[in-house]
Amino acid sequence: MKTVSKISTGLKGKIRIPGDKSVSHRALMLGAIASGTTKIKGLLESEDVLNTAKALRALGAFVVKKEDGTYEVTGVSEFSSPDGALDMGNSGTGVRLLTGLVAGCPLKVAFTGDASLCSRPMKRVTEPLSMMGARFETAGGGTLPMTEYGSAALKALTYELPVPSAQVKSAVLLAGLKANGVTSVVEPVPTRDHTERMLRAFGADISVESRNGGNVISVRGGSALKASEVIVPADVSSAAFPTVAALITKDSDILLENVGINPLRAGIIDVLKEMGADVSYESERDAAGEPVADIRVRSSELRGVVVPPEKAPSMIDEYPVLAVAAAFAEGETRLCGLSELKVKESDRFEAIIKGLTANGIVCFAEGDDLIIRGKGKNACGGGLIEAKLDHRIAMAFMVMGTACERPVVIDDVSSVATSFPDFIGLMNSKGARIDDYRD
Ligand code: S3P
Repeated sequence: MKTVSKISTGLKGKIRIPGDKSVSHRALMLGAIASGTTKIKGLLESEDVLNTAKALRALGAFVVKKEDGTYEVTGVSEFSSPDGALDMGNSGTGVRLLTGLVAGCPLKVAFTGDASLCSRPMKRVTEPLSMMGARFETAGGGTLPMTEYGSAALKALTYELPVPSAQVKSAVLLAGLKANGVTSVVEPVPTRDHTERMLRAFGADISVESRNGGNVISVRGGSALKASEVIVPADVSSAAFPTVAALITKDSDILLENVGINPLRAGIIDVLKEMGADVSYESERDAAGEPVADIRVRSSELRGVVVPPEKAPSMIDEYPVLAVAAAFAEGETRLCGLSELKVKESDRFEAIIKGLTANGIVCFAEGDDLIIRGKGKNACGGGLIEAKLDHRIAMAFMVMGTACERPVVIDDVSSVATSFPDFIGLMNSKGARIDDYRD
């Protein structure tokens, strides 16, 4: 069933965005190896995170949902061999972080996933984890299905990230918890640091040192983690969709409550402000080690900007919806250094060009840069988008439809359930017009 998003005005009201996906995966995983029972408030109940919970149960950990909606995870000192392959669905974070978590366990663990996940590169984690002593059998091309053979004698490693990836950093650090000695990850450009923050809260022996604009993160193997309490903030990556919708539609004024504004995640907000967006943080506070705020967004006239490559790690998942904002800006926007967009849930680099072009916007590539010629308020729409199992492509183009003269149609929005299950209901309750489409 296709979905259509039609022009709307006046998105209004308070919006409760679901929990942060990155924090949710990590809370379940650290809980599963910590001694005692970890309480998680605000866990994101989306397909990706629930697949991680299922995988951890298959490895022997106890994950239960309580009546008040909190999750409790009781850790185990040793994982047990799961019956059959762990199906990680659509989730790169789920599978890559788990490879690190099981690397130090003498077990055979098979991983699989959907067509999107089975086409994504795993060499970025299998390479460093193999240097530490784990072994992998992958499909040709280094993808899933994949079998990992963990080792009880993992060697500590110092590893410089060849790509700015928090997933790779986290996989190596999680493996380092069981390695013999101190494992260090050198990241030339800082990436999201939820793993480091949470490892500290769970009592790991971890240190972070700034070096040449990046970081060196070191973890000592062998120290046991202790259960903790995790409060999951709302996901700024999900919040970015209603944020852009409110900016590009007329007479909108929304408040997004309790959103995580970790500076290594909230780059999109800085860039939107630079574009002239009326976006502000209210009641900034701390929630169990992560900074949060309510975000106020009002309709705005946007202008084109240049986003340098250094900005990418702090907003890597937000380029599809930023490209939509750029389509409604006056003037040209250049988004620089986006090679990593080509290996996300789909090739987002190509999906942005195809999707904007189908909706009458001039958008093209120059090397790894994307150039978008904004049309101000007059973006035409009328395009049909192929979402290719990519939740963020589906949501970005539903957002585009809220302000185009002609409706935007998306072939399949089922992938939205991986990160933001009630996206359509929530958007419509605030004034959007997103519906089933019959041709
Ligand atoms: C994530 C890291 C990013 C991001 C993904 C979530 C994480 O991936 O795109 O959605 O939770 O660590 P990379 O590490 O591949 O950049």
